[in-house]
Amino acid sequence: MNILSPSILSADFWHLGSDIEQVQKAGAKYLHIDVMDGLFVPSISFAMPVISSMRKYTDIFFDVHLMIEKPERYIKEFAEAGADLITFHLEATEDADAVITSIRSFGKKVGITIKPGTPSEAVVPYLDKVDMVLIMTVEPGFGGQKLIPECVQKITDVRKWIEERGLNVDVEVDGGINLGNVQSIIDAGANVIVAGSAVFKDDIGANVKAFLREMNE
Ligand code: DX5
Ligand code: ZN
Repeated sequence: MNILSPSILSADFWHLGSDIEQVQKAGAKYLHIDVMDGLFVPSISFAMPVISSMRKYTDIFFDVHLMIEKPERYIKEFAEAGADLITFHLEATEDADAVITSIRSFGKKVGITIKPGTPSEAVVPYLDKVDMVLIMTVEPGFGGQKLIPECVQKITDVRKWIEERGLNVDVEVDGGINLGNVQSIIDAGANVIVAGSAVFKDDIGANVKAFLREMNE
């Protein structure tokens, strides 16, 4: 069963609680939470206080995507705010192994991710230490961008390396995914799909159901 992780970056923050209830009711198992620091990426989003507020009211799986410099500084805070899985950028730290160990020490799942310009080979040394690899298909920083087709091969590469090693690692893809291209992303080897602007518009529940149909038929 492939998993949909709606990105609340595109939600209406006035109605955040009700937007989350709608995606969960429609069958989304994860919630993708984009944290941006204005340094690693040009934009700033939200962080711990928003996550801990949401945590009080929902048990949906919190898939936290850290787009921050030196993520090692804040792992404890994100773990305590209620993250279930913490994904960090390999480009943002000089000691990825230490970040992985830190996330594990709080009993959380570990994800690593790379920007479009970073070769897929960068994830190989960590494949047997993580729960998920996130392939970015847009430059991180903003929702609503177009998927970069050249990134799709990386999904296939990473899935192949995981299978060759007999590992149980999820492959998540984030950026520019919509109902028209999600099937090709699954076919390339992804099993966790992030979608922001394609979910949080018009009828949110209907969008989630349409994605899940496309992804699991
Ligand atoms: C971009 C974020 C994405 C973003 C995806 O930096 O990591 O999660 O919210 O939004 P869409 O699906 O609109 O490309
Ligand atoms: Zn993201």
